Amino acid sequence: MLSPTINDALNKQINEELFSAYLYLAMSAKADNMGLSGFANWFKFQYQEELAHADRFFNYILERGGDVALDAIGKPEVGDPSPLELFEKGLAHENHITHCIFKLKDLAKSESDHATDVLLDWFVNEQVEEEASTQAIIDQLRLVKDNPSGLFLIDRQLADRKPESESEA
Ligand code: FEO
Repeated sequence: MLSPTINDALNKQINEELFSAYLYLAMSAKADNMGLSGFANWFKFQYQEELAHADRFFNYILERGGDVALDAIGKPEVGDPSPLELFEKGLAHENHITHCIFKLKDLAKSESDHATDVLLDWFVNEQVEEEASTQAIIDQLRLVKDNPSGLFLIDRQLADRKPESESEA
């Protein structure tokens, strides 16, 4: 059984993950409008990953006999960024999510909720991966600066991103 405090914190994290999905969906549309279909593809898969993260918390709350309470999802503000700024915004957002996960870990530990603590280990590792993959793209974009050929090559590379289930097949 989840404590009301943990239950509430996990519901808030569902909202954070759904907002993340919404943000990446907006970024995908923005990239598509720039003619960068590979970037759009990468953000679209990121959107799907965030939905899966929300689902993982959703299922866990129910599995532990808790109550799922869904709140309104905020409006994602993407503005009019360059490709580099899009990814920098993505990384800043992932830094925020990492902070949320760390706070949740602290809470689970303070309540001796070992099951939630173990669930969150998966998310700690996932955040390391997400920040690293976003940072790698930022590094490449900084290297090519505004060079159209370089941008084109990165776009082709990002077009190859597949859902994990397909890449393992
Ligand atoms: Fe669900 Fe990108 O963190």
